[in-house]
Amino acid sequence: MARVKMKRNLKSILKYFIFILTTVFLTIVIFKLFKQFDQHNNNNNNNDDVQLEKVFARKQLYSNQTNKIDWHDWEFINLEKQRTGIGEQGVSVSLTSFNQHKYDELYKVNGFNGLLSDSISVNRSIPDIRHKLCRFKKYNSNLPDVSVIVPFHNEHLSTLLRTVYSVLNRSPKNLLKEIILVDDSSTKVNLKKSLDKYLSINLADRVKIIHLKKRQGLIRARLAGAKKATSEVLIFLDSHTEANVNWLPPLLEPITEDYRTCVCPFIDVIAYETFQYRAQDEGARGAFDWEFFYKRLPLLPDDLLHPTRPFRSPVMAGGLFAISAKWFWELGGYDPGLDIWGGEQYELSFKIWQCGGTILDAPCSRVGHIYRKFAPFPNPGIGDFVGKNYRRVAEVWMDEYAEYLYRRRPHYRDINTGDITKQKEIREKLKCKPFKWFMQKVAFDLVKKYPPIEPPDISNGKIRSFIAPELCLDASAANKLDLKECVDGNENQIFIITWRNDIKTQNNMCLDINDSSVKAKITLYSCHNGGGNQLWHYDHKKKVLVQGNNPRCMEHNISARKAYVTQCKPENEDQKWIIENFNTKASTWSLTY
Ligand SMILES: *[C@@H]1O[C@H](CO)[C@@H](O)[C@H](O)[C@H]1NC(C)=O
Ligand SMILES: *[C@@H]1O[C@H](CO)[C@@H](O)[C@H](O)[C@H]1NC(C)=O
Ligand SMILES: *[C@@H]1O[C@H](CO)[C@@H](O)[C@H](O)[C@H]1NC(C)=O
Ligand SMILES: *[C@@H]1O[C@H](CO)[C@@H](O)[C@H](O)[C@H]1NC(C)=O
Repeated sequence: MARVKMKRNLKSILKYFIFILTTVFLTIVIFKLFKQFDQHNNNNNNNDDVQLEKVFARKQLYSNQTNKIDWHDWEFINLEKQRTGIGEQGVSVSLTSFNQHKYDELYKVNGFNGLLSDSISVNRSIPDIRHKLCRFKKYNSNLPDVSVIVPFHNEHLSTLLRTVYSVLNRSPKNLLKEIILVDDSSTKVNLKKSLDKYLSINLADRVKIIHLKKRQGLIRARLAGAKKATSEVLIFLDSHTEANVNWLPPLLEPITEDYRTCVCPFIDVIAYETFQYRAQDEGARGAFDWEFFYKRLPLLPDDLLHPTRPFRSPVMAGGLFAISAKWFWELGGYDPGLDIWGGEQYELSFKIWQCGGTILDAPCSRVGHIYRKFAPFPNPGIGDFVGKNYRRVAEVWMDEYAEYLYRRRPHYRDINTGDITKQKEIREKLKCKPFKWFMQKVAFDLVKKYPPIEPPDISNGKIRSFIAPELCLDASAANKLDLKECVDGNENQIFIITWRNDIKTQNNMCLDINDSSVKAKITLYSCHNGGGNQLWHYDHKKKVLVQGNNPRCMEHNISARKAYVTQCKPENEDQKWIIENFNTKASTWSLTY
């Protein structure tokens, strides 16, 4: 009897288990389907706002943001959408009839199309090109107020005013306390008394202007503005920018969570010729190479999964950022010993990170910037001030890594930095971490792309035909690669395969494919260090030169004296090459082609 009962019990327990397992299984399946639907929605580039709203509402369920509000001024946004006229909505413009002389004159002094700028409203509308989900983001209802600091030297009046109006128009009134224009001793007459008068009549309540008596340079002009600022948060902008929709809240919220956070907007491109407003790209992390050229590193996988979330960036791109006044002055502001411009973004970035802060890029905050066609201002004639700035930054913040900079620019070693004791004191006082920590924890992937010590070359010499060894690749033409008689001592026939696997000429041009035809031309183009269409590998066993990730091979036609890339047929004698001074150890490579 008891045994039977036990069996029954066992049976019902088993049934119960199966029931639970089925439930769990079904839940997982449904959840997965749900998620797929969600992803589908996100990936589809679907413009259907209702769909997006649904997706977002569901996400909201999981994070109850009671103290967060929608900061968008929808009424104004809708009004702006209806604006029409020259340059409105940020579309590309070219004037059909204009005074050529005036056009040339304004181009020369600005490095951009100043005449066109004068035809576009200072209140013009620009497209909202943020990630679609930014429209649904809510931010802390309690945000600090801001002072926007805009230094300028001989800025064109209409681009300066457009900067001012874009900030006034697109910032919540209760957050924007003041805009401080800092005139760094401009010489244009219309930036003096008449501008003061215009501001005092039209914008006296919120725009101030300081005229510096003596030219200070961008860095000290920013400092002068910051000293006059009265708000909790400082925002620095360039004087030919346009703030986009709802740009402030994403910059400010991270600062409320930790006052030592510095937040940068995405910088969009305003075309210097047509004033078209467009995205640069969808974000990257700021970095540098060992000559202190600004470089960019890819977003991290987790950042890619959260396209509206601010991500950590090792260095800021330039002069557009928000920082609490408290943190800025604790860090000593910018080093006031930095001259004119150059290196200041590295100085501030290194000390923010090393002294316990964070730099974020906020994808939902965007500001357009005119990148000039050329620099219109003459060199100030005070020698290598950029080199001096770099050396100050390196000496104070970079420890043993400064050496890598000096190896590439040996003359930095002889530049007098001036007094840097104050800067070193700040580093000591704030117990800032070593540069090595910065390189390992913040810019951890930098050295892979920009090694401090350049790895050895893979080869350095002539590249000969295997079946006709009297024929060599030849770079004597300006932008195309030829096949010619080998000549001893001819520099145009010497090529270097670098550790990046590009092939460099003695003039620092790279073998480049920009042609998808069956027999693609090989051109010479400035080296971009990005692999892709400049990527080459030499299989020294099969003697084949393989190009690109989607491999094709270099082939020659001896009678036509031509080299090109085409489908790989390693057994084809026309695809065999002899590369002089090939270092088999330096070449670590495997790829099937
Ligand atoms: C969020 O929290 C508030 C109170 O804290 C509550 O009234 C509200 O119902 C919550 N909303 C959701 C969607 O859970
Ligand atoms: C620009 O917009 C402001 C309101 O924000 C208005 O007062 C001003 O007159 C406008 N200026 C022009 C030139 O349209
Ligand atoms: C590649 O070729 C196209 C078409 O000839 C040209 O428009 C483009 O500028 C070229 N790109 C480069 C990087 O040379
Ligand atoms: C080599 O070039 C010549 C002349 O341009 C052409 O007639 C011949 O077909 C080419 N040979 C091959 C194998 O493509």
